[in-house]
Amino acid sequence: MKFFADTADVNDIAELAATGLLDGVTTNPSLIHKSGRKFLEVVKEICGLVDGPVSAEVVALDHATMMKEAAVLRAIADNIAIKVPLTIDGLKTCKALTDDGAMVNVTLCFSANQALLAAKAGATFISPFVGRHDDNGFDGMQLISDIRLIYDNYGFDTEILVASVRHPIHVLEAARIGADVMTAPPAVIRQLSKHVLTDKGIEGFLADWAKTGQSIL
Ligand code: E4P
Repeated sequence: MKFFADTADVNDIAELAATGLLDGVTTNPSLIHKSGRKFLEVVKEICGLVDGPVSAEVVALDHATMMKEAAVLRAIADNIAIKVPLTIDGLKTCKALTDDGAMVNVTLCFSANQALLAAKAGATFISPFVGRHDDNGFDGMQLISDIRLIYDNYGFDTEILVASVRHPIHVLEAARIGADVMTAPPAVIRQLSKHVLTDKGIEGFLADWAKTGQSIL
């Protein structure tokens, strides 16, 4: 399972990239706003920090303007994935861009039928938002299961990118289902390494090691 960081904070991205565990980054207009940085400038910097896909989202709603915005974003770096919303114009843009060799992340997916359309449009990634789905009384992980089943039924190559991840259990369930990618805030990615028994174990081992009076170096 690939791990993407869902942030436009370059310090967080650099720190996670240094672990060797980061496969890509997703941004959206809200995350760009939160960063307080200029969109094109911060995305360019992020593309230099990770080798994998960096999602940058168009903000136009019509196909023609989406294509123009995508051209600007594609010029930033080779690892840009153009993010388009799951609308008819977004799907049309997805098809045109993937036919032209670009990576496309179709975002704001809330139903399996929407995911089916994205796959038919040749999307590189489909982003079902599990957290927002749960928030509204739907079962986010059932959506991931349904998409997995449908994509496997027809051998679609579109990667399921579990988005709007809020906690480690979302990551665990997505991995059980066999999602291809998950994108989460850096704090959630760091949380995955935590266990109280790991901390307790280290404490006990170090206490006993000190009693030996030895050192490795
Ligand atoms: C994914 O690409 C989105 O940027 C993101 O996961 C949305 O998450 P949120 O629902 O926490 O805003």
